[in-house]
Amino acid sequence: MKEEENTKNNRNLLEIRKKYVPKAVYNTIPSFISKANGSKMTDVEGFEMIDFAGGIATVNVGHCHPKVVRAIKDQAEKYIHTCFHVAMYEPYIELAKRLCEIAPGDFPKMAFFANSGAEAVENAIKIARYYTKRSGIITFENAFHGRTLMGMSLTSKVKPYKLGFGPFAPEIYRIPFGDVKLFETFLIDHVAPENVAAIIAEPVQGEGGFITPPPEFFPQIAEICQEYGILLIADEIQSGMGRTGKMFAIEHWNVVPDIILLAKSLAAGLPLSAIIGRKEIMDSPHIGGLGGTFGGNPVACRAALAVLDIFKEDDLLHKAEVLGEKLKKQLEIWQNKYDIVGTIHGIGSMLAFEIIDPEANKPDKEKAIELVNLCHKKGLVILTCGKYGNTIRLLMPLIIQDEELEQGFKIIEENLQILEKRN
Ligand SMILES: Cc1ncc(COP(=O)(O)O)c(C=O)c1O
Repeated sequence: MKEEENTKNNRNLLEIRKKYVPKAVYNTIPSFISKANGSKMTDVEGFEMIDFAGGIATVNVGHCHPKVVRAIKDQAEKYIHTCFHVAMYEPYIELAKRLCEIAPGDFPKMAFFANSGAEAVENAIKIARYYTKRSGIITFENAFHGRTLMGMSLTSKVKPYKLGFGPFAPEIYRIPFGDVKLFETFLIDHVAPENVAAIIAEPVQGEGGFITPPPEFFPQIAEICQEYGILLIADEIQSGMGRTGKMFAIEHWNVVPDIILLAKSLAAGLPLSAIIGRKEIMDSPHIGGLGGTFGGNPVACRAALAVLDIFKEDDLLHKAEVLGEKLKKQLEIWQNKYDIVGTIHGIGSMLAFEIIDPEANKPDKEKAIELVNLCHKKGLVILTCGKYGNTIRLLMPLIIQDEELEQGFKIIEENLQILEKRN
């Protein structure tokens, strides 16, 4: 038994990983986790890390929140899977009802569930095309919508997401993010608005570097959509579930999308995504046109219901706002103090900062990766993102304790000092 335990160190597990799991399935840190709680993860060697990555925006309520764990255990003891298409169950319809109630828009809505963000994107496009009887889809430069064929086709960044994986889905048009004028001329030069089923947008671009559009952008896009009968799909997979201080980031601009997509933090780490939209749109496809074996799994739905309870009972939206203010303050200090810290991006607690080469005034991806590695060695997990891979994004659980936050800041600061000196 002892011998077996001894083999469970990161190095040995990494060897097995390298032998049996393709390298394309990338990893940020070379650690294997044995437990995670709140804002902390512990690896198989007992090394504790503060988590500023949150499983890529997936544990906004924290790792293994007791209410989520209780709901999962309770549900697992009752039934784990029937398939909603075969035998229905209450957690599915209860979650659909609650999401329709909280999603923006004072009109009847409907919702259904899939397993991943990419699957939610696929379904939204299917529904938009069915309802409008049009095929064109407009997406944005710098967008990320997943790794399935449609998700990847809508995604902007070629490397690593698309290189060698084509051909891609047809009838997809890409325009720059944040400039409505370009959009208007695009509808003259490239595609007739009458052929466009939907525009899909991340209210705050996630993988693209936490890019926030100018304040007039979404209201004007919504107006154009309304004028031409184009549906507006808000991909809130990364920006939703309270990350920006509002349940849905699009609420910052008082814009009401026709379809909203959630995944990631919806079920606190269980695979679940939601497609929520106007009733007449969602209910347009024929019986049997939508669904899947695992979509809206009862255990995942119970976890999501617990997440919604936690948001209410623990006032998580307020916590997200307060956390956002603390993060902003800290990032501005670093920006003033260190030449290698460039532009700050994002809103609420969805914030990121660029690492730059100050002499050339250029993105410095290598240094950003070095910062990730140095932080990991000192017990902090952070992630990069952005077009040039030089942006450090902060996606810690919204319930993070002040001491953990301070400790994380301290680790980043120590390493910024090291990297700054090397300049
Ligand atoms: C905005 C956005 N859309 C879609 C996806 C795809 O989600 P998933 O990885 O669950 O398929 C992601 C994942 O990072 C995302 O950030």
